[in-house]
Amino acid sequence: MGKNKLKKFDDLQGYPHVFQYPFALLKEREFEMRGKWGESFFKNSNPIVLELGCGKGEYAVGLAKRFPQKNFIGIDIKGARMWSGAKQALEEGIPNVAFLRTHIELIDRFFAPGEVSEIWITFPDPQMKKVRKRLTSTRFMQLYQQILTPDGLIHLKSDSPFMYTYTCEMVKANGYPVQVATDDLYHSGIADDILEIKTFYEQQWLERGMTIKYIRFVCQPREQFVEPDVDIPYDSYRSFNRGKRSGKQSSQEDTTSK
Ligand SMILES: C[S@@+](CC[C@H](N)C(=O)[O-])C[C@H]1O[C@@H](n2cnc3c(N)ncnc32)[C@H](O)[C@@H]1O
Repeated sequence: MGKNKLKKFDDLQGYPHVFQYPFALLKEREFEMRGKWGESFFKNSNPIVLELGCGKGEYAVGLAKRFPQKNFIGIDIKGARMWSGAKQALEEGIPNVAFLRTHIELIDRFFAPGEVSEIWITFPDPQMKKVRKRLTSTRFMQLYQQILTPDGLIHLKSDSPFMYTYTCEMVKANGYPVQVATDDLYHSGIADDILEIKTFYEQQWLERGMTIKYIRFVCQPREQFVEPDVDIPYDSYRSFNRGKRSGKQSSQEDTTSK
């Protein structure tokens, strides 16, 4: 591991607003702040909003600055990325943001039922071949439902035509009310101060000439979940840090069939 990374991990250990909880640690002891983030950490009872797969945490920090009456928690498994947002929050003295380093799959171990009011999912890997790993699959919806309020919102911002189409189909199959959906956010006329926050990955996609997709829906509680039964064309381009896939590479949004 490089010196730089080691220094970042060292910094994270000492940050009071960063919680690092790999699976091994959870096996030893439960997360003591589950259900108590408000009273134990934020010292208020304001709504809690998560950014999942937060990377450098641009949304967690950006929203925290815009909404002092809400609390924000960025979650990612990669500490070196999270360090950027965590450091910024500390340096700027932003009191309503925290970071949690863990696997999203374990999220119900960190939040009690109804403890979370909104979830942002920013530029996730579309996981075209592995539906179970896709962050808007019904497997994850079941998990999010466990921690969200009954009118809890989910926001997805993505470069990927596959991820966006899949999510729209999943939302339709499960009858979740859609508040906003656009496959070209910055030409839709709805981009505002919030939606214009740009993440690290988003910047790169924009530089490659990609359009940005956005959907916001209500994760109403469901007893049964329906995986959409549709064939969605794979994205034809290779993503940053995403695994190799078949099909030609292109900076355009061409699509090839599964
Ligand atoms: C493509 S990056 C996007 C990062 C950031 N949201 C952005 O837009 O710049 C996806 C992020 O999700 C994180 N991630 C993916 N699956 C995860 C999981 N199951 N648990 C925790 N983090 C995950 C990765 O570590 C990575 O930082």
